[in-house]
Amino acid sequence: MSLEQSVSQHYTHGGLEAALLEALKRGGKDIDALTYADLALVDEFHIGGRPATRALGEQIDLPAGATVLDVGCGIGGPARFFAAERGWRVEGIDLTAEYVAVAEALSRRVGMADKASFRQASATNLPFPDASFDSAYMLHVGMNIADKKAVFTEVRRVLRPGGIFGIYDAMRQGDGAFAYPVPWSSEPATNHIDTPDAYRSALAAAGFTVIKERDRRDFALQSMQQRVAQAGPPIGLPVVMGATAAQKLANMRSMIEAGVFAPREIIARAATP
Ligand SMILES: C[S@@+](CC[C@H](N)C(=O)[O-])C[C@H]1O[C@@H](n2cnc3c(N)ncnc32)[C@H](O)[C@@H]1O
Repeated sequence: MSLEQSVSQHYTHGGLEAALLEALKRGGKDIDALTYADLALVDEFHIGGRPATRALGEQIDLPAGATVLDVGCGIGGPARFFAAERGWRVEGIDLTAEYVAVAEALSRRVGMADKASFRQASATNLPFPDASFDSAYMLHVGMNIADKKAVFTEVRRVLRPGGIFGIYDAMRQGDGAFAYPVPWSSEPATNHIDTPDAYRSALAAAGFTVIKERDRRDFALQSMQQRVAQAGPPIGLPVVMGATAAQKLANMRSMIEAGVFAPREIIARAATP
């Protein structure tokens, strides 16, 4: 099985849309009158949820109407958020067919089918012409990708010169042992977490200049602390992550605490000719 098949298999749930709607109902939402904001409880699949998405977006200065690519869009939370709150025209691609179908279904459900679009594709082979986007972003996807230079080269190709590429990924901080499962991987074969240095080199080789970086470890720990403090119905990421959700979250938290990895933002600019 190829890496991409294994990654897609890792994320495939089999009945995700129904499980999410059920969880939202249990959480007191009227599933026939949902808004994109209600979905934030379930559709932001990265450390720190919607506040993390907002924080990354604050570093991408673009007007309404700008065309933006979401690399590894998952079930579409960040894409809907930016389409609704920033007025960007977002196109999301993702390897996992079920996620793309759920992203489309959720957008229809909240009346945003025309605001963000989704399609199944690999980040290493983007189905878009050269220079078709003003900007691109990627949240918690690079950990599944062995050849980051290949992806960044593709992103660079579809960006207009000078376009901003915002990355928010978990990155290696120290050499400590890695405990499985984590949300993005249940085995070493699908885990390609890398150091900030490796990202910088791959970005440079692909024609990007890094203009800003921010360590998000403290933000991550605070956000996980808040999550633990919030008692309530089982809503949110545990639904998306399936039966081993608790173990995935516990391993992730202890490795962040131990300095094995931490989420980090890297903002890069595509070279101008
Ligand atoms: C942890 S989820 C993050 C989803 C979304 N970015 C978010 O923050 O809500 C990682 C996503 O990356 C996608 N992915 C992993 N490798 C990919 C690749 N090579 N090309 C496209 N998508 C990929 C997975 O299918 C999954 O949806």
